[in-house]
Amino acid sequence: MSGNGYDFNKILSQRAQNLEASPTFALEKKIDAFDLKLKKEGQFVIRFGIGQPDFNTPENIKDAAKTAIDENKTKYTASTGIRELKSAILEKFRKENDLEYELENIFAGNGAKQVLDVIIRTFINKEDIVLVPVPYWVSYTQQVILSEGKPVFVKCNKDLKIDLNDLEKICIKYGKKIKLIILNSPNNPSGAVYNKSELEAIGKICLKYGIFIISDEVYEKFIYGDVRHYSIASFSEELKEITIIVNAVSKTYSMTGWRIGYCAAAREIINQMAKIQDQASSNPCTPAQWAAVEALAGSQESVNVMKNEYEKRRNYIFQRLCSIKNIKCNLPGGAFYIFPDISGLFNNEIKNSFDFADQLLEKDFVAVVPGAAFGDDRFIRISYAASMNNIKEGIDRFENFCKRIS
Ligand SMILES: Cc1ncc(COP(=O)(O)O)c(C=O)c1O
Repeated sequence: MSGNGYDFNKILSQRAQNLEASPTFALEKKIDAFDLKLKKEGQFVIRFGIGQPDFNTPENIKDAAKTAIDENKTKYTASTGIRELKSAILEKFRKENDLEYELENIFAGNGAKQVLDVIIRTFINKEDIVLVPVPYWVSYTQQVILSEGKPVFVKCNKDLKIDLNDLEKICIKYGKKIKLIILNSPNNPSGAVYNKSELEAIGKICLKYGIFIISDEVYEKFIYGDVRHYSIASFSEELKEITIIVNAVSKTYSMTGWRIGYCAAAREIINQMAKIQDQASSNPCTPAQWAAVEALAGSQESVNVMKNEYEKRRNYIFQRLCSIKNIKCNLPGGAFYIFPDISGLFNNEIKNSFDFADQLLEKDFVAVVPGAAFGDDRFIRISYAASMNNIKEGIDRFENFCKRIS
């Protein structure tokens, strides 16, 4: 009951009340408060929590937004984006992913997160199933729940990729109730990157059971060593027909706050999505769309600089984590996360990944995200979108913490 006498539990929708708060945003709030307190004592938190590039948005992209504002490109546009942005997206798919689309196949929205929400709303009726491979990015399951669908989790193998036997078993069990599967490669939180034959095997199962694929490729540019990114839609016309590719400028160009994401799909899907966008949000920010045109069509030099820097950090952090007793770790092929298995350090006081992350923050002032938030309690996620100095200091603190609790 509120002070005004209203019973908000009854007044507000079950849909809103059943939704979980984003664990990463909740964690950031907690860290901010803790950090403020620590700074007064001359200490500070090393933040490996949020998945946010630590680079500034490149100058050419900022300039394009400034020019757009000066030229008064500040009005409503088509809800699904300006023609110039859609053309730049088309060209990107053609050049980089070997995929041919028409303008009618393209949709630009307010970041990949909002585009994903519109896709899920477009497909899902009450109780329809969406397959979510574990470990998963935190918003997938909640967006499915918001659409009154049912997330069903697919187990992972030792490489933290989809266990194909489990996928087939689930398809047999639920049959036609399954509408969608959400693939995410490079993966948040594990950094795992699917190779061609793995994606082909998944595609075969999806075609067999009539499951549409959302392929979230927002980290495609951050892949390391000889690893390659493949878009499952590029393997055949049949797979292209059932795949909705989601991408964004957010991570690739360090533009998280600009809120431009996009997708490519069959025009029947885009047409329905456009109606939702017309009614629910209208176009994404107009100057940000012009900035995204420059990001996609302009110089890609800054992406290479960021990628090389992430690769150095990944190599350093992987080698350090591997040398810590009772920690197991896969080498991430992409993204800017590493996902060590810390379950070898569980004890009477630290019984799960939440306890581990809490204690690490409180005792050694390092912020990480508990693996339970991504569906697997054995792990924690470390984001290495942080400066090398902070990574060195953070891993020193992490190592000390692990030694103490071993
Ligand atoms: C896998 C994945 N998909 C989508 C998003 C959302 O991206 P955007 O900032 O463009 O909404 C994120 C952001 O963390 C992500 O990690």
